Amino acid sequence: MDASNESRGALVVFEGLDRSGKTSQCGRLLSYLEGLGHSIELWRFPDRTTSVGKMISAYLSNESQLDDHTIHLLFSANRWEKRSMMEMKLKAGTTLIVDRYSYSGVAFSSAKGLDFEWCKAPEIGLIAPDLVLYLEIPPEKAAERGGYGGERYEQLKFQKKVAQHYKLLEDSSWKIIDASQSMEDVEKQVKETVSEHVLSCQKGKALSSLWS
Ligand code: TMP
Repeated sequence: MDASNESRGALVVFEGLDRSGKTSQCGRLLSYLEGLGHSIELWRFPDRTTSVGKMISAYLSNESQLDDHTIHLLFSANRWEKRSMMEMKLKAGTTLIVDRYSYSGVAFSSAKGLDFEWCKAPEIGLIAPDLVLYLEIPPEKAAERGGYGGERYEQLKFQKKVAQHYKLLEDSSWKIIDASQSMEDVEKQVKETVSEHVLSCQKGKALSSLWS
């Protein structure tokens, strides 16, 4: 997608089941990298602030009903509407920490029974992350963590299926972190892994696209 050797920000994605600790770890990583003087932003998907995001939010809180294919495409559209901004920020040297991305899109929708390749198709051409931190936790343990918040997908049986589907998406950009460790131990591993990747992007690693 981009053969230049220019310094850029890194695209770091957190993935995992609901209650795996992604959001806390994103916040901790943000403070750490800011403290080192990096230009950095925290993003999340779904981005519920856009008009597409509002439709997704209503669906997740069971205020609206949508066909499974339709909601899948809305999640994807929600990433596409941010794609050019994402590219601009990365090229301008800002590292983006992103709480959920295309892997959530495919794992959750295919766990409902939609065809796996069909689920991947609308994600093709989005920017490929430099690093995916997958916070791995047994679904039973995640369910014990303060209980689920009542959104549509927060059910143990479904989360078990999602975990299986995530596994099918693992590639060389993934680092699997045992999220049943203490927050501090997880944080330490996250920091070590991310620092290496930020450096390689500063040295001019080219941007690439999903899933090519
Ligand atoms: P959140 O709790 O991280 O805001 O995510 C909301 C829910 O939406 C969560 O259960 C995962 C699910 N999800 C999808 O089904 N597809 C997607 O593309 C994304 C980003 C999230």
